[in-house]
Amino acid sequence: MAERTIKVEVKRQSSPGAKAVTETFEIPYRPNMNITSLLGEIALNPRTINGTESTPITYDSNCLEEICGSCAMLINGKAMMACSALVDKLQGGDANKTITLAPLSKFPVVRDLAVDRSVLFENLKKVQAWVPIDGTYDLGSGPRQHPQIQEQRYPLSNCISCTICMEVCPQFNDVTGFVGAATIAQTKLFNMDPAGSVLKEERLRALAGDGGIQECGFAQNCVQACPKQLPLTEAISDMNRDVFVQQVKDFFTR
Ligand code: SF4
Ligand code: FES
Repeated sequence: MAERTIKVEVKRQSSPGAKAVTETFEIPYRPNMNITSLLGEIALNPRTINGTESTPITYDSNCLEEICGSCAMLINGKAMMACSALVDKLQGGDANKTITLAPLSKFPVVRDLAVDRSVLFENLKKVQAWVPIDGTYDLGSGPRQHPQIQEQRYPLSNCISCTICMEVCPQFNDVTGFVGAATIAQTKLFNMDPAGSVLKEERLRALAGDGGIQECGFAQNCVQACPKQLPLTEAISDMNRDVFVQQVKDFFTR
């Protein structure tokens, strides 16, 4: 019997401004392969299905266990993490099913499947998504947190900055400039931190600005697509309320 193979169609682009082309590869099947191992197989012998010599495919990856958030891409048209996307599952029992790979569509392509997601980090800077700490002297142990607060904060701290919530959001586009669900969730995380809450008001004002929380159309795609199951819609509702309260306060104290 002929050896089982997997056909993979990859949308490629050699540089940021270059025209995209599609290349198809056929690689030997192994049980329990994920998309990262499949891309590794292509790199070992980068030759298209027609026998044309090609090059290894460029993509971001690091942890290989859905922790670093770098390997997000469109797999069979859906935004997913390459390291946790299993070939058997993607083929759904149809061994002849071609797997398609493409870069995330809402971010500038750097090369092949690697995109520039720095917009997320710029948005996190806008809301100061950190705990401001003076590291020049020993601060001792941090303030105690009530277990109920810890329980609310922990799921939000699982964000891996993969940007999938932004990719799937209809409001995340050049017209709205919407910051996206991840930034809103991190605002809640740091506003609930006993030390981080010192910047709470500034964060809420930043979320009230251009591209802020008011751009959310509550499509709820984000909460369904998030690979770490962050309670995104709850975070958006909570921040929406807090932004409103902050705006009222600011109105009366102007
Ligand atoms: S909120 Fe979820 S989907 Fe969005 S960046 Fe964080 S982990 Fe990824
Ligand atoms: S390689 Fe780190 S999340 Fe996939």
